[in-house]
Amino acid sequence: MKKKVVVFTGAGVSAESGINTFRDSGGLWEQYRIEDVATPEAWRKDPALVLDFYNQRRKQVIKAEPNDAHKAIAQLEKYFQVQVITQNIDDLHERAGSKRVLHLHGEIRKSRSTLSPNLVYKIVGEELNIGDKCEKGSQLRPHIVWFGEMVPAMEEAVMHTQNAEILLVIGTSLEVYPAASLVQFASEESIKYLIDPKAHLISGIDNLHVIQKKAGEGVPVLVKELIKEYV
Ligand code: OAD
Repeated sequence: MKKKVVVFTGAGVSAESGINTFRDSGGLWEQYRIEDVATPEAWRKDPALVLDFYNQRRKQVIKAEPNDAHKAIAQLEKYFQVQVITQNIDDLHERAGSKRVLHLHGEIRKSRSTLSPNLVYKIVGEELNIGDKCEKGSQLRPHIVWFGEMVPAMEEAVMHTQNAEILLVIGTSLEVYPAASLVQFASEESIKYLIDPKAHLISGIDNLHVIQKKAGEGVPVLVKELIKEYV
């Protein structure tokens, strides 16, 4: 029986692919105000500005390539039962070969109807613009979870995390809720690793190993160790 592994990632796993993180120095939230580009209010006030912000993000993602961390995570699937849960809106886990990826905060390469949230489309090309409409004739918005909105995938993410025997948390500041609370749902016995140059112990979390390294360096080494130890 393959062991159950949950890999929970944040912006740091894609940093070495050239995608900006949010809260590091020089990060996106130093260049933009969240309330101007990533809230329902921003969309009501200035949808063109919001679309432009995400058009830029999409162009950066399309140009980027998966790095050694994404690739090592995809390799895990040969040996373990793996569920990736990511806060990232990029598709680098999928492009590295990961098959089961749950996006908590949406996907930059998809759009969704402002009338019927179930109408979700793949964006062809790089841009989503004013005047791009769903099949029912309403404006399309980025398929992104904005601040102040529900996180529909959270329940499924909690279920996977509760069942995990091994939990890898990679490249996240653990500052944004509810996503950050996932770690609290891991069982006491599960073995947990944090990989992030700024990682530190979390009070109340047992069996936690802190690896203060960049993902591209730390993840491939850890993946090799896990295969040696558990397969
Ligand atoms: P943050 O920008 O808050 O945190 C990035 C983390 O990545 C930090 O802890 C860094 O130390 C770490 N880091 C930087 N370079 C790294 C590298 N090469 N390898 C490993 N780690 C590295 O990003 P998130 O925690 O992902 O949500 O942010 C969570 C959410 O806040 C995002 O999903 C986004 C944002 O606002 C929404 O937009 C809804």
